[in-house]
Amino acid sequence: MNITGFPYLGRMNMKTSDRLAAIPMSGIRKMFDLAGPGSINLGLGEPDLAPPQAAIDGMCEASRAGKNKYAPTAGIPELRNAVAERFSRFGPLTGQNIIITPSGSTALLEATQSFVDPGDEVLVPSPGFVIYAPHAKLAGGIPVEYRLTEGDFQPDLEDIQAKITPRTKMIIVNTPTNPTGGVITKEIRDALADLAADRHIMILADEVYCEFIYEGKHESFLPYLDRALVVNGFSKMMAVTGWRMGFIAANPECMEALIKMQYHVCASPNMPAMYGVLAALPGIDPYLDRARQVFRARRDLITKRINEIDGMHLMPPRGAFYAFPSFDLKMSSQELANRLAKNGLICTPGSAFGGYGEKHLRFSYAASEEKINTGMDILASTMKQLRGQGL
Ligand SMILES: Cc1ncc(COP(=O)(O)O)c(C=O)c1O
Repeated sequence: MNITGFPYLGRMNMKTSDRLAAIPMSGIRKMFDLAGPGSINLGLGEPDLAPPQAAIDGMCEASRAGKNKYAPTAGIPELRNAVAERFSRFGPLTGQNIIITPSGSTALLEATQSFVDPGDEVLVPSPGFVIYAPHAKLAGGIPVEYRLTEGDFQPDLEDIQAKITPRTKMIIVNTPTNPTGGVITKEIRDALADLAADRHIMILADEVYCEFIYEGKHESFLPYLDRALVVNGFSKMMAVTGWRMGFIAANPECMEALIKMQYHVCASPNMPAMYGVLAALPGIDPYLDRARQVFRARRDLITKRINEIDGMHLMPPRGAFYAFPSFDLKMSSQELANRLAKNGLICTPGSAFGGYGEKHLRFSYAASEEKINTGMDILASTMKQLRGQGL
């Protein structure tokens, strides 16, 4: 296609890189394009709560006070120290172990760009968050999917062991997980850490949902910084997805590499947003208690509604804000999600999260109970209709 006024367009070699061309567009975004007006959207992975007021005030005050310039590449020391203090309940940390990043997504990208070489294999969870495999590919690596067990969605250790080769460089682990809501047990966390040490494979742990656990407790990889990088972020914790604020915890050698990478990616994180997070973080617990209360009630509602539907099954998700039920129709998750979109309900097909995600749908319950109920009415009637047709 040519555009009037751009005579050279089409004659220039503006072909995208092979690395980018090898990556499909996210299956989550594709579903949003299908949304008609008035659709119920249970596809969004962002809290619908307001951020803590202290965060907004802190950011605005910092900006008004002239803090609008580049920051130190690893982030302002006050925030690095505050993060270390809050998360040292999981493992020994100082501010020197923390780099503030422009989002959890960027943290994950910087981690793979810093440690994955062309030809390295990266074990990624399946079903798993949609950017892990693309990030491995963008670094020239080869993503290899490992299975999460059905129902409780734990990393399948036997499958991981079977897939380790001399080229395996990194295992990505996510707890609590998107899309399943699974929360890793202490036994599996420790076994993975031992396996990583035995086989000299680094772990990249994504813990961005660690504050959203409704049963059990968070088993962080922070005690294992000798073999793991731990990514976390403020998007979900403070409902500030638009601020793009995250962090990585790492040992001093890895930290040096990450700071070098971040300098070349963005020079520094967003200065006023760092002050906003800093203003809210020390007093965040009452806010999080309330958020967990809201999400737990929604989780109970969506679990009950889904399990009332013939042909669908869901074990109560223990963390994050996603439900990932299985279904028994003779159609793919993409076909079922398309049918639901036509009937006014947006969700994400399980296949968007990897080869082991098929025969599932992902619903985000970061939405009001009213929306969840209306969405579940559409799901129930669509399932009934499809089963009636013998599908
Ligand atoms: C598992 C997981 N990790 C990381 C992220 C990235 O979050 P952000 O880039 O907003 O910090 C998300 C966002 O949905 C996620 O679900």
